[in-house]
Amino acid sequence: MATPLRILTVIGARPQIIKAAAISHAVRGTFAGRITETLLHTGQHYDANMSQVFFDELGIPRADISLGVGSGSHGAQTARMIEGIEKELLADRHDAVLLYGDTNSTLAGAVAAAKLHIPVAHVEAGLRSFNKAMPEEVNRIVCDHCSTWLFCPTQTAVENLVREGFRPDGGAPATADRPRVVATGDVMYDNSMRFAELAERRSSLTGDLGLQQNGFILATVHRDHNTDDPLRINAIFTALLDLHDQHGMPVVLPLHPRTRKMMDSLLTAKLRAAVEAAPGFHLVPPVGFLDMIALERGAKLVVTDSGGVQKEAYFFGKPVVVLRPETEWVELVANGQAVLADADPHRIREAAAVFLREGTPKYPALFGDGHAAEAICEVLLQGHD
Ligand code: UD1
Ligand code: UDP
Repeated sequence: MATPLRILTVIGARPQIIKAAAISHAVRGTFAGRITETLLHTGQHYDANMSQVFFDELGIPRADISLGVGSGSHGAQTARMIEGIEKELLADRHDAVLLYGDTNSTLAGAVAAAKLHIPVAHVEAGLRSFNKAMPEEVNRIVCDHCSTWLFCPTQTAVENLVREGFRPDGGAPATADRPRVVATGDVMYDNSMRFAELAERRSSLTGDLGLQQNGFILATVHRDHNTDDPLRINAIFTALLDLHDQHGMPVVLPLHPRTRKMMDSLLTAKLRAAVEAAPGFHLVPPVGFLDMIALERGAKLVVTDSGGVQKEAYFFGKPVVVLRPETEWVELVANGQAVLADADPHRIREAAAVFLREGTPKYPALFGDGHAAEAICEVLLQGHD
């Protein structure tokens, strides 16, 4: 029997920990003995409700290596991560480094591995906002162009890469100079399907908050572009409060720590007091994945600037008002399940009113068959065993 393919998986931010659950599960199940995984946690997210809760709920093994880099400026944080990942790879060269998404942890993993000539596998490759003011856009472009395997969740992602000169037909063995682009579906869809039933049994949050099925709005806000700009954060909270008042509907807002901090410093005292006094405006700490699924499934409408939450809303058939000027998940907008409203209270109110009144059209399968993780493992093994 061939020696197993040894991968080092780099995670750090909340959505990456969640995404990692799907492939970690496949590696320990279907691919046991053929692939081994070492988990490296950069420590980009570190609060228990931003990190540990997902290991516990999703059955992800404890990280083998914890860098503990914590928060910092982009340069300082990324530099600490590159240094730490490089040190680990020098001590133990893995066959491949597996990276998720577009955070600073992704960027650091790509740079460290590529410079040591260790092949990079990028899950969620090919996404583009065409807005380089977003730190994530820079991170994902660098990572894609350092990668040997580019695993695309959607056909649009493949097309974006083709426009940048990638050839989707490059066969095995893939190399950094002849990378392989593969449409695999989305590991987030795998996870949402796998954990939906567990969420139904385990989560009591909607009941605890006294919410009715299809009777509330779920909101999340955390993009730096929204949270760190006084005009935008005030506009968004004004709009959310309006939705609560006008539709008489509870709003649930699990607060990312960044948003909690910026609310304290940037919301006007009047708006802050109004939001806190509104009877059905539930500002709650970040919730675990099972509670989040329960909220997404129970909501009538989702209002968010999160990439992952936009998609999960789609998986569970809920319309989305996107608090951004653009999105990487363009299919949702093209098909009418999402509307881009930016941080404009008028557009947010209008889009929400239409969705609440009319619902949304159908939700065709766009994100694979729920087995993206297995498809990714199969491709990684081609040319190895
Ligand atoms: C990061 C990613 C973003 C992703 C998001 C997911 C980058 C550039 N951004 O943004 O793409 O959508 O994660 O949630 O990588 N903080 C805490 N506790 C924590 C983590 C963060 O209090 O456990 C606070 C700190 O004040 C920190 C701030 O949140 O400075 C921002 O954290 P950071 O990881 O730098 O960026 P995010 O906004 O979380
Ligand atoms: N999420 C969660 N609890 C929360 C908010 C989000 O479990 O309080 C999950 C959500 O279900 C999705 C992921 O975190 O799987 C999205 O992460 P986030 O919005 O932080 O980042 P993005 O997807 O925008 O990078």
